[in-house]
Amino acid sequence: MRLGVLTGGGDCPGLNAVIRAVVRKAERSFGDEIVGFLDGWRGLVDDRWMELNVEVCRGLLPKGGTILGSSRTNPSAIEGGLEACQATLQHHGIDALIAIGGEDTLGMAHRLTEAGSPVVGVPKTIDNDLSATEFTFGFQTAVQIATDAIDRLHTTAESHHRVLVCEVMGRHAGWIAAYAGIAGGAAAVLVPERLFDIDQLCASLTARHELGNFASVVVVAEGAAPKAGSLELAAGDTDAFGHVRLGGIGAVLATEIEKRTGYETRATVLGHIQRGGTPNAFDRVLATRFGVAAVEAVHDGSYGTMVALQASQIVRVPLAEAVGELKTVDPSLLEIADLFSA
Ligand code: F6P
Repeated sequence: MRLGVLTGGGDCPGLNAVIRAVVRKAERSFGDEIVGFLDGWRGLVDDRWMELNVEVCRGLLPKGGTILGSSRTNPSAIEGGLEACQATLQHHGIDALIAIGGEDTLGMAHRLTEAGSPVVGVPKTIDNDLSATEFTFGFQTAVQIATDAIDRLHTTAESHHRVLVCEVMGRHAGWIAAYAGIAGGAAAVLVPERLFDIDQLCASLTARHELGNFASVVVVAEGAAPKAGSLELAAGDTDAFGHVRLGGIGAVLATEIEKRTGYETRATVLGHIQRGGTPNAFDRVLATRFGVAAVEAVHDGSYGTMVALQASQIVRVPLAEAVGELKTVDPSLLEIADLFSA
């Protein structure tokens, strides 16, 4: 067979590990040829590609980013975009495409499948907000990076008796904030799933400090929002999929906390540090298992599916199920985080 591969959306540690596993499995077990399309869906629209083989993939496992490049190009938003993708697949004699990405990339994969092209999806996002899979690769690495940062913030917060706000990624779901907040012993965890009350937050920080705690770290997901009318946030631009570019809640919060509590407060935005660099062992293994399973799905003709992790096993689920609804943070996890707030 001739297989196509692409990586779309925000990059994430483990993408190269998936590419390496796809190539190894396809070439060694099935004698396939593999074409890598460059910069996500952009490469299919513009017909830009590179040949992939086991030799090209040597040394790739621990490397962050993606050798194929990525973009947030949405062919559905470009006139004739979907047809251009199909023409490129046909021109290269591609029997099946493996699309590695998050909700937007897999949403496009779903549309392409419905239009008759054979596609298998691999779930990727540091946000861990894709339905039908317990974990996406990249998430555990991002959580570890955020936890290390929170540990460091704790010692400097204690030295200066400050409140330190740590802003982490998480546009619609606060998985990184919840996990890293619990792992790092945060005084408060603010997530998009639960509007926060600035009065309540400041009262709880004050109570905590009066109890003898001399420092606090507040973890806030970039998509967290205050209860209506309680705090003003600036609106951002949108990308090709209509998502608002976030970032900035940490600084707003720090100013407000300092103003209301009188405790010196600073903000740290972790930003793309959470997405760059080498994947941890868990993500390397998950990415490798996903890559191998995607090739098996292709050879079984399971098109329109996504490989997923369920009860520690790799399974196949319909793409429609994966992109239908966002996976938000389990409220019981937030209750655990709250237990440690004072
Ligand atoms: O979707 C993954 C993600 O890391 C989000 O958490 C974040 O909001 C977004 O990407 C940032 O994207 P960009 O790098 O395009 O600004």
